Amino acid sequence: MTRFVRAAALAELQGADGVLAANVEGRSLALYLVDGEVFATDDLCTHGAARLSEGYLDGDLIECPLHQGLFNVRDGSPAGAPCTVPVKSYTAKVEGGEILIGIEE
Ligand code: FES
Repeated sequence: MTRFVRAAALAELQGADGVLAANVEGRSLALYLVDGEVFATDDLCTHGAARLSEGYLDGDLIECPLHQGLFNVRDGSPAGAPCTVPVKSYTAKVEGGEILIGIEE
């Protein structure tokens, strides 16, 4: 079952240039805005101790700030060395200006 939990206001993500850290029930997530669509992954890079929310978003790719590895924010798949392990992605939707994240239970 998927339960949707508020992560942030859409306006916060828009104001953060499309990349925003969010804490959802103890999980550190990164939220992304790509062509009006919202995506979410775990914030921690799978390659090392770096936060993807502090990286650079180029289209639907997030560049890790530590070694410049890439992930596709749509599904968390690795898209550039040295990243080889997917980062967990979450279902995201917007309702009434609020970003909701799907938590699997
Ligand atoms: S810690 Fe993210 S690419 Fe190395």
